[in-house]
Amino acid sequence: AKLNTVAKLAGKKYFGSATDNPELTDTAYVAILDDNTEFGQLTPGNSMKWDATEPTQGTFTFTNGDTIANLAKANGQLLRGHNCVWYNQLPSWVTATNWTAAQLSSIVSTHCGTLVGHYKGQVYSWDVINEPFNDDGTWRTDIFYNTLGTSYVSIALQAARAADPNAKLYVNEYNLESSSAKATAMVNLVKSLQAAGVPIDGIGIQGHLIVGEVPSTFQSTLSQFTALGVEVAITELDIRMTLPSTPALLAQQKTDYQTVIAACKAVAGCVGVTIWDYTDKYSWVPSTFSGQGAACPWDANLVRKPAYDGIALGW
Ligand code: XIL
Repeated sequence: AKLNTVAKLAGKKYFGSATDNPELTDTAYVAILDDNTEFGQLTPGNSMKWDATEPTQGTFTFTNGDTIANLAKANGQLLRGHNCVWYNQLPSWVTATNWTAAQLSSIVSTHCGTLVGHYKGQVYSWDVINEPFNDDGTWRTDIFYNTLGTSYVSIALQAARAADPNAKLYVNEYNLESSSAKATAMVNLVKSLQAAGVPIDGIGIQGHLIVGEVPSTFQSTLSQFTALGVEVAITELDIRMTLPSTPALLAQQKTDYQTVIAACKAVAGCVGVTIWDYTDKYSWVPSTFSGQGAACPWDANLVRKPAYDGIALGW
């Protein structure tokens, strides 16, 4: 059986993939992406980010985001929105001015409210906040934190809730796969939001992992998060290796994918897993991590790798 089919048999909401607009001219690629027995959910890899959706202040461009939202709808796939507030891929107008707290608060609220409102009724879950922490668990000192302190998180979450009351609102983060200072920071953030009555529904665990290095505390970290009463999702899974790939590395990668999927399966509040594109042809890994790649379950020729079987076995 294919990957979304087995995920649903395991009681999950979806197994899905990220995609990006330039890839949608590749008909062989799209034929697999469109198969909702393989992928029950899509995430736009770039086209709902701030630089793509509000390139100049107050001017919103949803064309590319809409293309992916409409594709998911046509295919009967869920949609994850990604993302509202992130330090990266910001248009220069956001970062080039010394905003007052009142000004930046209004900018964050308008951006999140307009973005989430545009997709009202179409999105299962939103990554409202992306990557707020440093690896040591301290807050990332980006323009939002530097100007607004931690209040930017609640400003964004409240604007998102008002704009689409039915979307699940997430904070999404990397290096959250093991028991760590960063995971503790996330637990404390969720507790403080809950205590303050700020809407928070989920924790996104990106899952950008390395072959042979799936943390042994992965499943217990998922359980630690769901014990807070929020759901969790693995939102950007890929498992990279130092190139060239070898049969041994591909076999270890299969095991690693199986381990990650089995951890989500075992934790009731883990609702689904999204891979950060399904094929090595379009993976972000080689351009970001020099000398590394082959991180996806399909190779660059759109042929299934051993990792594919690992995922199916894990569910
Ligand atoms: C990546 C995209 O895949 C790339 O195409 C882009 O150049 C940079 O961003 N964490 C995230 C994602 O939350 O938004 C990032 O996506 C990968 C890391």
